[in-house]
Amino acid sequence: MKHFLSIESASVAELQAILALAAEMKATRGRHTAHPLRHQCWAMLFAKSSTRTRVSFEVGIRELGGDVLFLSASEIQLGRGEPISDTARVLGRMIHGAVIRTFAQSDVETFAQLSGVPTINALTDEEHPCQIMADLQTIVERLGGYAGKVVTFVGDGACNMPVSWLWAAAKLGFELRIAAPRTFQPPPEIVARAFPIVQTPATAGDAALYETGHGGRLVITEDLRAAAEGADVLYTDVWVSMGREEEAAYRAAQFGRYQINTALVERAKPGALVMHCLPAYRGKEITEEVLEAHADTIFTQAENRLHAQKAILSLVAR
Ligand code: CP
Ligand code: NVA
Repeated sequence: MKHFLSIESASVAELQAILALAAEMKATRGRHTAHPLRHQCWAMLFAKSSTRTRVSFEVGIRELGGDVLFLSASEIQLGRGEPISDTARVLGRMIHGAVIRTFAQSDVETFAQLSGVPTINALTDEEHPCQIMADLQTIVERLGGYAGKVVTFVGDGACNMPVSWLWAAAKLGFELRIAAPRTFQPPPEIVARAFPIVQTPATAGDAALYETGHGGRLVITEDLRAAAEGADVLYTDVWVSMGREEEAAYRAAQFGRYQINTALVERAKPGALVMHCLPAYRGKEITEEVLEAHADTIFTQAENRLHAQKAILSLVAR
């Protein structure tokens, strides 16, 4: 594996290898015999805020024997307008790998292409692939696997998390339901790329159903209650993603009823997991009561960022 840029561009074998190694990383933490980043220095180039991603990568790189530089985009020349193409060619001559959090997916891809060093997407507007790997690790731990499971995503169906989720469902073969207002559903061109078979086309008010032909299913609907029915996992994310802050009031009005609360959890399968990538806004996309009742799962997701990303780092290291 040369880079880890998106779930879309990863092969099924790569996703499975990450999950297998992530479990091993978790089981052997503190006793690793391999240090694949030894004598290496990695750069973390971040244009957006972060707690989990930043700390889990900094700790993970060190645990794999490497050294790490945190570079805030606003504090280097990138923030004054130096192009990503020049930044990539400069850093590529000095560092051994890069972890990038930014806005445009194309910037991470340009960096990967021009720097010549392994590059990992730590969140863009289009995907958050590292989060998905930690989430899948958590689902495997708690439910024994993802095959045949139903994951229901509630909220902003057009942001990075549901897009990464839909690629995971398409590649790994499970059912993803996205419950979102009509104007916040995933971009049709991405749905068409991931799920080529249209079973029920999108029509006003009804659920659209798409399939891959090899086990992946995607349901897109405005009907939150129907989407939660019998689900194995209820998943949510913030209503206002980073970079969308000026739309906060409009989004609050649009998403008001798209909340994971006790009544919604009661519609899911008994023992269903409630998951959140965090940070969470209590009283908005999830209630305090539900978050605290499912805190063990949610904070295990956060912990698994460390293990899943150590697996990714090990697999891309040269
Ligand atoms: N879930 C996640 O990526 O969290 P941070 O924004 O804190 O990194
Ligand atoms: N959709 C959110 C994810 C945060 C981890 C955002 O992009 O801000």
